[in-house]
Amino acid sequence: MAKRIFITGGAGFIGSHLADQLLARGNQVMVVDNFSTGRRDNLKPHANLQLIEDTITNSSRMHDLISNFKPDVVIHAAASYKDPNNWEEDSKTNVQGTAAIAQASLKAGVKRFIYFQTALCYGLKPIEQPITLNHPILPGGSSYAISKTAGEYYVQLSGLDYVTFRLANAYGPRNISGPLPTFYKRLTTNQQCFVMDTRRDFVYIDDMTSCIMAAIDGKGAGTYHISSGTDVSIEELFNATTEALGMNIVAEVKPRLPDDVYSILLDPSRTEKDLNWKVQVPLKQGVKATIEYYKEFGIEQTFTHLKQVNE
Ligand SMILES: NC(=O)c1ccc[n+]([C@@H]2O[C@H](COP(=O)([O-])OP(=O)(O)OC[C@H]3O[C@@H](n4cnc5c(N)ncnc54)[C@H](O)[C@@H]3O)[C@@H](O)[C@H]2O)c1
Repeated sequence: MAKRIFITGGAGFIGSHLADQLLARGNQVMVVDNFSTGRRDNLKPHANLQLIEDTITNSSRMHDLISNFKPDVVIHAAASYKDPNNWEEDSKTNVQGTAAIAQASLKAGVKRFIYFQTALCYGLKPIEQPITLNHPILPGGSSYAISKTAGEYYVQLSGLDYVTFRLANAYGPRNISGPLPTFYKRLTTNQQCFVMDTRRDFVYIDDMTSCIMAAIDGKGAGTYHISSGTDVSIEELFNATTEALGMNIVAEVKPRLPDDVYSILLDPSRTEKDLNWKVQVPLKQGVKATIEYYKEFGIEQTFTHLKQVNE
């Protein structure tokens, strides 16, 4: 029998790509989203899709929805991050909401629970590169990391069969947070761009979802990194963006701030082994496909969990 999958945050970037793939292969999907950062047009109507507009902090409703839908797998992708100073919303959604979804899943006999964690859980000054799964958890640098880490602890405490993915920077069509949509928006509206002297690890959405789909189908258990295993400079990302746009612009490189991390690179070796997975899409190819999406659908708003240093 086709699996039943409950997705929180399913109108967002990662959640909607997973919903598309699950629907395409015949799964029954229920999505809950409050559209705080998700977009309605990320999800096309489908006979096997039920879309519920609500917040995951509505605990009694979440218990009712999950016990009635009886999912085999819960993908918990909803998260609050768009205002770094809104600690209450971060803690409501990322802590209380996660607790509600995890306990409702346990009560309903969910067989597998998928969670997503930020690499910021390793702190603003990681003590090793690449960062291994044994690195100490030090989320104190942001409300987002603190609350996502509390959520991850609840998932681990729950007794559910879980996989928690600590993610590198995901990018691709529908991505509206991070440097790429910001570059696109500024470059196409004649605003000046600058890049910080930092390096990050980028994974294209198709690579990210192929890894998550393996976990949905039962591979792996516990904690994993989704990472390309290679960091690139933000300047390289900028150059790939201008190339995809056919522009010839050199960005101003700014020295990083004292509390900015030079490189965040996660060690993907456990993921590559247990899930038999490795990134496939080269950066330039992924950036080109993402730019095509922005050209077609536009970007209404971009979001970041980082405090803005410059406009
Ligand atoms: N994209 C990345 O690079 C990245 C990196 C690390 C971790 N993550 C995690 O991956 C998950 C998915 O992120 P994404 O990039 O798709 O972000 P996204 O903003 O596109 O998706 C999050 C979705 O959750 C919804 N949402 C927020 N609060 C909600 C609430 N209270 N109730 C119901 N829905 C709510 C939003 O409307 C949105 O559709 C999140 O848990 C995020 O913390 C993402």
